Amino acid sequence: QELQLKLEMLEKGGFDHFMLKEIYEQPRSIKDCMRGRIYPEEGKVQLGGIKEFAEKLKNIDRIIIVACGTSWHAGLVGEYLIEEYARIPVEVEYASEFRYRNPIITEKDVVIAISQSGETADTMAAIEMAKERGATIFGICNVAGASIPRLTHAGVYTHAGPEIGVASTKAFTAQVTVLTLMAFYMAQQKGTITTSKLIELLTELDHIPEKIQVALASNDLIKEVAEKIKDSTNCLFLGRGSGFPVALEGALKLKEISYIHAEGYPAAEMKHGPIALIDEEMPVVFIATQNSSYEKVISNIQEVKARKGKVIAIVTQGDTEVKKMADYCIEIPDANEAFLPLLATIPLQLLSYHIAVMRGCNVDQPRNLAKSVTVE
Ligand code: G6P
Repeated sequence: QELQLKLEMLEKGGFDHFMLKEIYEQPRSIKDCMRGRIYPEEGKVQLGGIKEFAEKLKNIDRIIIVACGTSWHAGLVGEYLIEEYARIPVEVEYASEFRYRNPIITEKDVVIAISQSGETADTMAAIEMAKERGATIFGICNVAGASIPRLTHAGVYTHAGPEIGVASTKAFTAQVTVLTLMAFYMAQQKGTITTSKLIELLTELDHIPEKIQVALASNDLIKEVAEKIKDSTNCLFLGRGSGFPVALEGALKLKEISYIHAEGYPAAEMKHGPIALIDEEMPVVFIATQNSSYEKVISNIQEVKARKGKVIAIVTQGDTEVKKMADYCIEIPDANEAFLPLLATIPLQLLSYHIAVMRGCNVDQPRNLAKSVTVE
């Protein structure tokens, strides 16, 4: 028994839970994910796994991303990045919905299937259907040699290392990293980005692991915030642009492991429904970093404050505007908007983690959930 416990402690690398260990591994896992793939000085991205399709990428009509759960949220981030940089239209689909429709798929479509485990039944079925209809299928998977990498035509591994916690953390940020690389790669192939812009972006991306380290250093503060909102029954997460999928992911994490009802919403949609829920009992987590939607998010924060909601804001280091309004601010380092999801996700993971621990939940194995869902 004692030996068993010691072994477990060792496996968790001194952390109380696998989830926390995996959250802290992210500077490293993202570095592993980028290794050999980015060349900042040359402004070049190399993705060996999809190299044979480099020519094809110049002439594709559309990309369809299929995934489930957290991987689907990564897909939404991918949509912003691919459309922004490679100017290819992207649709993001829940694999389970996609497979049971009669979707229009042609040979000029590329389907990107995202799956940590590489075993999710619905994602596999969606791949099979798209393949039958002639699409080219790329995979973004974490587990090497799993079923999905074997079903796809080509793919890029996330290399995040084994993820044990049922709630996905480091696999998500690695998926987002791969999608960022794919967006830049496609942009490079299509000529929708200049080399100097790529040099600038890749140089910054190269330093994202250090910035994640800085974001992790807010852990004690995040724990204090967790203490304040741990007894809530509901929680809202709001963001705009690529902050929206981050909000969705923040809400999913919280509900998965703490069993607090949480919803993610595009901040501007708040007035079409969720605003009715806001009172002094309702914590609202905002992604309020200084980017193109900053001013808009500030007015959304004011709307929540006017209704006495409790505002927790993820802000850019040195922010003063949001600090005047929010109840609690958690800073992350400044970065190009393209990399915002990678940084803003970190405090949300920690927030859910601490709330779940404080509520006495089984963080690594939440009730009713499975790490990989091989049934439909
Ligand atoms: C399960 C896991 C989630 C995961 C989802 C999709 O619900 O609990 O963490 O996001 O499946 O899994 P996949 O392995 O396809 O990414």
